[in-house]
Amino acid sequence: MRLVLLGAPGAGKGTQATVISEKFKIPHISTGDIFRSNIKNGTELGKKAKEYIDEGLLVPDELTIDIVKDRLKQDDCKNGFILDGFPRTIPQAEYLDKALDSMEVNLDCALNIYVSDEEIIKRMSGRRLCSGCGKGYHTIYIPTRVSGICDSCGAAVIQREDDKEETVLSRLKTYHEQTEPLIDYYERKGKLVTVEGKKNVEDTKKAVLEALGAK
Ligand code: AP5
Repeated sequence: MRLVLLGAPGAGKGTQATVISEKFKIPHISTGDIFRSNIKNGTELGKKAKEYIDEGLLVPDELTIDIVKDRLKQDDCKNGFILDGFPRTIPQAEYLDKALDSMEVNLDCALNIYVSDEEIIKRMSGRRLCSGCGKGYHTIYIPTRVSGICDSCGAAVIQREDDKEETVLSRLKTYHEQTEPLIDYYERKGKLVTVEGKKNVEDTKKAVLEALGAK
């Protein structure tokens, strides 16, 4: 299964990618996670990416495409992958088409998780991440058993810098201007499947697996 996940920031792409990755035994590749890990490790790429991410803007295509190019060459991508947060612009989608052609494989599906802007703003304000293992939580929908402590590894859970309200509004604007056109792009190729993402995590998971089962 070769899959692209589309959806606004906070639509639940990362949450559902974890489920799909386990079910289909394919790697979950999140460009956002790759940037965050580079920021944490203080790399040159991390320093450059941080300037854009903190403003709610997209990291330039040339930096992002290089990362994906290297990642898709790795052995674990031979039998498939989920791209979460890539492509995010038309030039990124065109690059991906070329890369898949050169690998002589096809994209199975572009899965779009639709959630309204109002719900997104509610979700982002409650999102928390473990500072140790990176596991995702939500203060209301997916709380930790002990407040502020990760259920899996015991490290502190923290809020992402770019989840502050003003940055979320800027990320939504960027999404509507630069990423939403990809919905038409994949629809024209006959690859688009849209799933309603406003239900709870479990029901969305069922809808996602059902939609992919039909692929
Ligand atoms: P990235 O990390 O990709 O951010 P994003 O697309 O904004 O997506 P999020 O990770 O914020 O949300 P999500 O859809 O994965 O939702 P989640 O499952 O966490 O990118 C960050 C930044 O990096 C970008 O802004 C950009 O600057 C840069 N970047 C990344 N890729 C790039 C690219 N290709 N080109 C250029 N720049 C790039 O869920 C959100 C919350 O809701 C969680 O708390 C979760 O627990 C909760 N939740 C999930 N599902 C449900 C549900 N059904 N019901 C209730 N709560 C739910």
